[in-house]
Amino acid sequence: MIVPVKVCAGTSCHLLGNQEIIDVLENMPAQYQNCIMVGFTSCFGACEQGPCVLVSDKLIYQATPEKVIQAIKEELRSKK
Ligand code: FES
Repeated sequence: MIVPVKVCAGTSCHLLGNQEIIDVLENMPAQYQNCIMVGFTSCFGACEQGPCVLVSDKLIYQATPEKVIQAIKEELRSKK
């Protein structure tokens, strides 16, 4: 199964550090790279709580690489 991961590419989320999350996602181990599909999206309308990342249908506010990876792991576990 593939978990869609959409990083908000809006200006606020960019200024709040979405690049760190993108870097981590792009350098995930192969076992995860094969299970996720990373993309970008425009503003979620929650700019003050950015950076925002949508993992499957779960929107993560004030996202950090750790929070995003945890959400991906949970999603993969729930779909097994
Ligand atoms: S810029 Fe990311 S939620 Fe608005």
